[in-house]
Amino acid sequence: MTSVKQLGYLVFEVSDLAAWKDFGSQILGLQVVDERGDAGFSLRMDSYRQRFFIEPGTADDLAAIGWEVEGAAELEAFARRFSDAGHEVVRGTPEEAAARHVEALIRVHDPAGNPNEVFHGPDRSADLFVSEVVGSGFVAGEQGFGHVVVAANDQDEHEAFYANMFGLKLSDYIRCEFFGHKIDVTFMHANARHHSLAFGGGQLKRIHHFMIQTNSIDEVGLCYDRFLVSGGMVHQTLGRHPNDKMFSFYGYTPSGFHFEFGSGAIEISEGWQSTVHGKVSEWGHHPPQLLTKAYRRAKESADKKG
Ligand SMILES: [Fe+2]
Repeated sequence: MTSVKQLGYLVFEVSDLAAWKDFGSQILGLQVVDERGDAGFSLRMDSYRQRFFIEPGTADDLAAIGWEVEGAAELEAFARRFSDAGHEVVRGTPEEAAARHVEALIRVHDPAGNPNEVFHGPDRSADLFVSEVVGSGFVAGEQGFGHVVVAANDQDEHEAFYANMFGLKLSDYIRCEFFGHKIDVTFMHANARHHSLAFGGGQLKRIHHFMIQTNSIDEVGLCYDRFLVSGGMVHQTLGRHPNDKMFSFYGYTPSGFHFEFGSGAIEISEGWQSTVHGKVSEWGHHPPQLLTKAYRRAKESADKKG
């Protein structure tokens, strides 16, 4: 079955455009492009002209997941596949495609109502990507911008939808308890990236987090430092995942959902065998409250003495 090629872009609806501009450029190290005034702006990370569309609104959530297919014939085949299976397909107008800087796009929702766009012919930028703060650049290109983790009501239905409609393949599962929370997440890939999409359970928003990957472990530490110094709130400390082996940390975006900033992931290779992992992390990725435990204890004991 034809598969989508890669996770091409994400669209976020955000209430604070200025905060996102600082966060995207100064913390994540992405390049602000196509500034559209009150209508938002875009962010780039490689030769693709746009990878993140930051649009104004009150949702502070994911507004679309953009998947790239090979060409016009493939896009038609996907549209047919979706409608033959009973999914409503909406064709983007030429103006909507132009706004995304692609040749054409269609829209379809997944079983949890997450909005997907499937497109072909993305614009590339003639200028080299330049980051103000991430010197080694990002692992993107043919692997797509990174990954996204979204809500799913029915895990099996969700997996079947992305396998049968998008041609994604199973990477693995993580099922365990993590600091009192039941974790059950499914990971799927479209190319060499370990997972472009993951999903599990209900979430507060459509999106749990998105991930971008740099070429150097030190860049993860440098981003962690920038984020802490800027007053950013860490969601999970530095750690390494057992499935994609990503070394990363998680923080809160200005919209309240999370981002993951990582490096060092393994890639999917020929003969990949999916498996079930029984832990979220090989080490680390702790909630930051754990770090303050000792300080709290020390203060309590000082207060008692004082
Ligand atoms: Fe992740």
